[in-house]
Amino acid sequence: MKSYVILISGRGSNMDALLDANLPGQCAAVISNKPDAAGIAIAAKRGIATRVLDHRGFASREAFDEALAGIVDEYAPHLILLAGFMRILTTPFVERYLGRLLNIHPSLLPAFPGVHTHAQALDAGVRIHGCTVHYVTPALDGGPIIAQAAVPVLGCDDVTTLSARVLKEEHRLYPAVANAVLRGQVGLSDTGRVTVTEEVSLTEALHAPHFA
Ligand code: GAR
Repeated sequence: MKSYVILISGRGSNMDALLDANLPGQCAAVISNKPDAAGIAIAAKRGIATRVLDHRGFASREAFDEALAGIVDEYAPHLILLAGFMRILTTPFVERYLGRLLNIHPSLLPAFPGVHTHAQALDAGVRIHGCTVHYVTPALDGGPIIAQAAVPVLGCDDVTTLSARVLKEEHRLYPAVANAVLRGQVGLSDTGRVTVTEEVSLTEALHAPHFA
């Protein structure tokens, strides 16, 4: 059976959605860089192995990533799912797991990379916002896009209402993509393009609710 690990830094709602999804693989561990991440308690309660690697104990990003790779490799996972993992990963780490490392980002990339994506969207005045699941490459939030889900931005939205609408889509999109990747229906080619087999329709994961 295939296995995967989930990397988190906080609340863990995407992690929870992935664990709820009955993916065709076993979650070998949930790893957090923050000791107080709420998601760690949720994972432990679900009987999943949990590991904490506090980044504050490391002198450099490189040293932290090397230790993190050591933990990840203990589980020899087929897939590594970043789910609200709020650390920028170094190039050696990303290259080590190229094609096996996925991230969910709360915007329709390439718009609004980085942090505070919902505030960025509101400031920009866009009318459609959403989330993206992509392969991780050394370019921050710039890796090949696998799937996206879109939501409307309403006139009355603030960061709270908009982020909640996007999060709901994240919880649908990430498990759908992880499922397809674990089944081998989605992959990354040598030229860095996303490959999708015929039997999977990721357009089903693309969703734009009706405008009010
Ligand atoms: C999610 O919205 C995720 O897309 C975002 O952090 C949140 C984590 O929530 N990730 C990033 O911004 C990565 N750069 P969660 O812990 O409840 O899943």
